[in-house]
This record gives sequence, structure tokens and C-alpha cells, in this order.
Amino acid sequence: SSVENQRETLLTWYANACRDLPWRGSTDPYPIWISEIMLQQTQVKTVIPYYHRWLAEFPTIETLATADLQQVLLVWQGLGYYSRARNLHKAAQQIIQDYGGIFPDQLSDVLALPGIGRTTAGGILSAAFNQPVPILDGNVKRILARLVALSVPPAKATKKLWQLSESLLDPEHPGTFNQALMDLGATICTPKNPDCCHCPWQSHCQAYNLGIASKLPMREAS
Ligand code: ADE
Repeated sequence: SSVENQRETLLTWYANACRDLPWRGSTDPYPIWISEIMLQQTQVKTVIPYYHRWLAEFPTIETLATADLQQVLLVWQGLGYYSRARNLHKAAQQIIQDYGGIFPDQLSDVLALPGIGRTTAGGILSAAFNQPVPILDGNVKRILARLVALSVPPAKATKKLWQLSESLLDPEHPGTFNQALMDLGATICTPKNPDCCHCPWQSHCQAYNLGIASKLPMREAS
């Protein structure tokens, strides 16, 4: 079918074009969680050295939970949005208390941890446990807005975009599929000058076929 072809073209593109990122080597939820929190508001190239320093300093959930908050904030220093570091510390303590130090694999449990919303939960559960949980960060909103030539700003179509992310998600390879979407948004379906001629979804993309890819997504009136 068309959606199956669409999944396959993305996964085949990703097999060749995937970025070699340090958190992609393993399915251990702890480092994946740390990377997803750092990546919420910070670019990949800024995150990488912080990610390595963090794991050297706090190699396990337990070492994070028992560390001083001041030490945690010091290792975070320079990344900004310090509530992310406070929430990591608090969540680690909750994981020790409530789950014996094992990162939970139930969506409702993951969503109950401080600092974790739907897209972060989807990023973690799909990458660590290959669960079919969709993601919808800024990059994915842009891809999907172009794919369907969304005629309103993404903020006005959140429910529709989540449904679309869920319906496209590959049920066999959700972890790889979500990573592939992130790479498509970072390297091809960029905010300015999208590289549509190399896009695996060119033939599926309404905006491309209307010649308006670089005009979308619509901006929120300000
Ligand atoms: N942005 C958020 N999560 C990411 C990931 N796992 N890989 C690359 N970019 C991301």
C-alpha cells in the first residue's frame, strides 16, 4: 500500500543516510533518556560533549539519584534551561523509589516522570524498547505539515498531527522509523531551503507537488 511504501522508502533512505550519533549505539533507556532531555531545547552538536561528560559523571540512574543537586547543575552548566537538570535528578530518585532503579517501560509511568512529555516519552520508548509510540517535535511537525500541505499553523492542528505521526509510524520498526524522521527533519526537510530533490518522501509530499515546500509550515500570526 501507499503507507507501507512510504515507510519503506524512509527506512531505506535512513539505512544509507543516518547520522552516527552517540546515543544510537545502544537500547539502554538511561542514556537514551539523557539524550532526549538534552535535545529538547539544544542542538545535536552542542549536546554531544555534554552527553559524554554526563555519562562519565553519572553512569547509572543510581549515581544520578544519589548525586548532589549542585554537582548535577555544575555538569549541566552551559546547556541552559536548568529545570531540565533538576527534573532529571528528581526523576532518577523517583525511578529508584518506585521502580527499583529500572527505567519504566509503560507509557503512563514514563509520562509521570518530571520533565517528560509525549514526544520525549515516544523518543525513549521507541528507541529503547521498540514500542510503537509516535513523536511530534518541531522537526516532525514541519515534515508532516509539508507532507499534507497543512493550511494552518501546526499549533492549530496538534491533534491531527499526532494522529498522522501515529498512523505513519512503522509498526515493525518504530524505533528506527522515529530516528529516521528526526534525521529527515534535520538534514533534508529543513526550515529553509529543504533539499526536496534528495527526499525519500518527494512523491508523497503534497507541498512539494504543489511547489510550496519552502513556504510551509504556516507561521503563527504574531
Ligand atoms: N532530537 C531529539 N531526539 C533526537 C534523536 N534521538 N536523534 C537526533 N535528534 C534528536
